[in-house]
Amino acid sequence: METVVEGRAFYQGDLIECCIGIEGGKIVSIKKVLKGEKHYNYSSKLILPAAIDAHVHFRDPGLTHKEDFQTGTIAAAFGGVSCVFDMPNTLPPAISSETIKEKLDSVTKKAWIDFGLFGGCVSSFKPESIANMVIGYKLFMSSTTGVLLVPDDQSLTKIMTSVSKTGKVIGVHAEDERMIRKLPEKNLLDHDRNRPIEAEISAIEKLVSNFSENRVHICHISSTRSLKSIRGTKFTTEVTPHHLLLDNTCELGAFGKVNPPLRNRNERELLFEAFIRGKFDIIASDHAPHTIEEKEDDFDIAPCGMPGVETTVPLMLNLVRRDLIDLKTFTKCACERPAEIFGLLKGKIEVGFDGDLIVVDHKKIERIKAENLHSKCGWTAFDNYEAIFPRALFVRGMLVMEDRSIVGERIGRNVVVKGEKSQH
Ligand code: DOR
Ligand code: ZN
Ligand code: ZN
Repeated sequence: METVVEGRAFYQGDLIECCIGIEGGKIVSIKKVLKGEKHYNYSSKLILPAAIDAHVHFRDPGLTHKEDFQTGTIAAAFGGVSCVFDMPNTLPPAISSETIKEKLDSVTKKAWIDFGLFGGCVSSFKPESIANMVIGYKLFMSSTTGVLLVPDDQSLTKIMTSVSKTGKVIGVHAEDERMIRKLPEKNLLDHDRNRPIEAEISAIEKLVSNFSENRVHICHISSTRSLKSIRGTKFTTEVTPHHLLLDNTCELGAFGKVNPPLRNRNERELLFEAFIRGKFDIIASDHAPHTIEEKEDDFDIAPCGMPGVETTVPLMLNLVRRDLIDLKTFTKCACERPAEIFGLLKGKIEVGFDGDLIVVDHKKIERIKAENLHSKCGWTAFDNYEAIFPRALFVRGMLVMEDRSIVGERIGRNVVVKGEKSQH
């Protein structure tokens, strides 16, 4: 066997002591004893599937003063993430075969972990022309960072119809532009008031009434009331760590300004309850870095979004340690479902799947500190939160991070490869 990783692995719903044999990047055998040319023995440490963060903004190209594909993927690796899906609101936006090809050429050279790119939806575009290059499509129903916005019903219908022909998933930023107020904002409460939960519900209801048969993925759901309006559809659902753990009374100033906004404490608690009861398909960071300088501007002017790709897994692992979240719920939402929804053989310790693994020492509890993180933006809204950072990350059987250092080669690749066998 090329590579064997030994430890207490999460396999078919249980933790078992075993050896995971990997060849050509794929898991080929899981047995009590295996011999490998390279043999990593982690004894009693946990071996879990690496996470897939299906929602990041790595700002490359065009906004690389905030993040680039190298810093973004390194931050992901330290956070136990073996694969990210990058959003299209870059400069230029990733909306045509030319812009996406250029983006692919440039970011592939900088990727330390695997990735897929979302293609952005605009009124005048042909989804089929980029179908073989993208992991899925992204549609913004309201204005937020960037220029991509599809507020009118006619364009929405046209896009939904043409995207459905590609068979790919369409991720939606669901806030109803018409219900967003533009009143001056001084704090997170004002921001929540300007972009209320009702705007999210209204956008989701429009999608449910008109496109319930489409492969719609609702990004960053911020309220259980929105979640309820999705019941009975085929839509898939996403929640972020910030909507689960932070609320609009946190003293973060504009550093807590995100879209959709942080809600009140009660809403947050209900959301957390729904998450631990397995009501969401996936957890994703919506890693949206902006510089400290930009965030220190007047509240009204500061851009929306916060980083998170490096802290999602560590925060969740700590909640697992505290018995607040089931290990099963965590691996389902952070690993299995993102892979299933987007059709990848990743996210599971199982024969035939990519050898994407993390090594976790549950006794090693740390506190999140901005200066120890790797995003270019240099700050976090989770400063001082308890977390369990993975000790190692394997991507397709290759060590990328070990003992909190990046090791080996830069091996990240685009997961959208023509002819590759997928879960669909
Ligand atoms: O807060 C947000 N920031 N929400 C978004 O939808 C976009 C993101 C960004 O790109 O900064
Ligand atoms: Zn969004
Ligand atoms: Zn986003």
